[in-house]
Amino acid sequence: MAIAHMKNIVKRYGANLVLDHVDLDIAEGEILGLLGPNGAGKTTLIHALAGLISIDTGDIQIFNKQQKSNLMDIKRQIGLVTQDITIFGDLTARENLEFFGGIYGLRGKELKERVDETLRFVGLTEYSGKLPTKFSGGMMRRLNIACALVHRPKFLIMDEPTVGIDPQSRNHILETVRKLNRQGTTILYTTHYMEEVQAIASRVVIMDQGHVIAQGTIEELVEKIQHEEKIKLEVMEPTEALLEKLRRIDGVKDVSLRGKEILIISRVGAGNLDRALSVAKEAGGVRSVNAEKPTLEDVFLTLTGKSLRDGGEE
Ligand SMILES: Nc1ncnc2c1ncn2[C@@H]1O[C@H](COP(=O)(O)OP(=O)(O)O)[C@@H](O)[C@H]1O
Ligand SMILES: [Mg+2]
Repeated sequence: MAIAHMKNIVKRYGANLVLDHVDLDIAEGEILGLLGPNGAGKTTLIHALAGLISIDTGDIQIFNKQQKSNLMDIKRQIGLVTQDITIFGDLTARENLEFFGGIYGLRGKELKERVDETLRFVGLTEYSGKLPTKFSGGMMRRLNIACALVHRPKFLIMDEPTVGIDPQSRNHILETVRKLNRQGTTILYTTHYMEEVQAIASRVVIMDQGHVIAQGTIEELVEKIQHEEKIKLEVMEPTEALLEKLRRIDGVKDVSLRGKEILIISRVGAGNLDRALSVAKEAGGVRSVNAEKPTLEDVFLTLTGKSLRDGGEE
């Protein structure tokens, strides 16, 4: 069953067409990864879904209800982890959670229990009396997530929840997402890190420039470009002449230099690993060679002709 359904969504800011007839369905119980570079329109789409902004045209349903007319009813069952951290610096971790729990109508004993449980869940129990201004980036992100969880939403929307934090905190957050999902929460997880999507998502939607450009399971997406093979060659002398020779091999689609490494995209089964190796050997020798299965990054590259990382801000 679809927990949320977006059909033909169009949103303009002035002359900027930010969402260009976007369709999106989220099935109950899944972790849907929404992947796209900065500026793709992910946050705008999520804000439309959560009812924070209006759309120009299109239809949005959540829990089988029209999104606009039943807003409060819907909001009670949604948690939104915002991309920009929205916690109060002058309230302790516990007070922040009490505030957000209060907004959702939790009071007294129930509120205290939920706050304790949520603090435990994100691993902040021992910091409950501390001000978040003293927290590391990772702890702040965890508290930001906790604020969206305290009312136990059945649908959690997370907008780039791991930007700018250390790998350990990132793993902690990804583990938290998996745990929530196992407990029955449906999750829409937005990111421009394809590794995260690869780690947790059961299905992926890829956005670029206001369009959904591909969707499916990771296997399905990678399957689409299985007819390609990626060969990485590290050579002694990566000259332009060598690149040109490699480009002339039949079945080779693209050759580019990444640092000292030559990346060759070739048709699968063309026997081009052998040919590329012998061309490179003649031209001065090979240090290492490596042929890889395509990743989501390659899917993005194939579909758009540009790297997903270019859109990032690392
Ligand atoms: N409130 C706004 N006013 C004007 N332009 C906006 C606004 N919000 C987003 N945009 C523009 O919409 C595009 C998509 O932005 P956004 O949805 O934030 O993308 P993403 O979350 O994928 O990085 C960008 O070009 C951005 O500048
Ligand atoms: Mg965004």
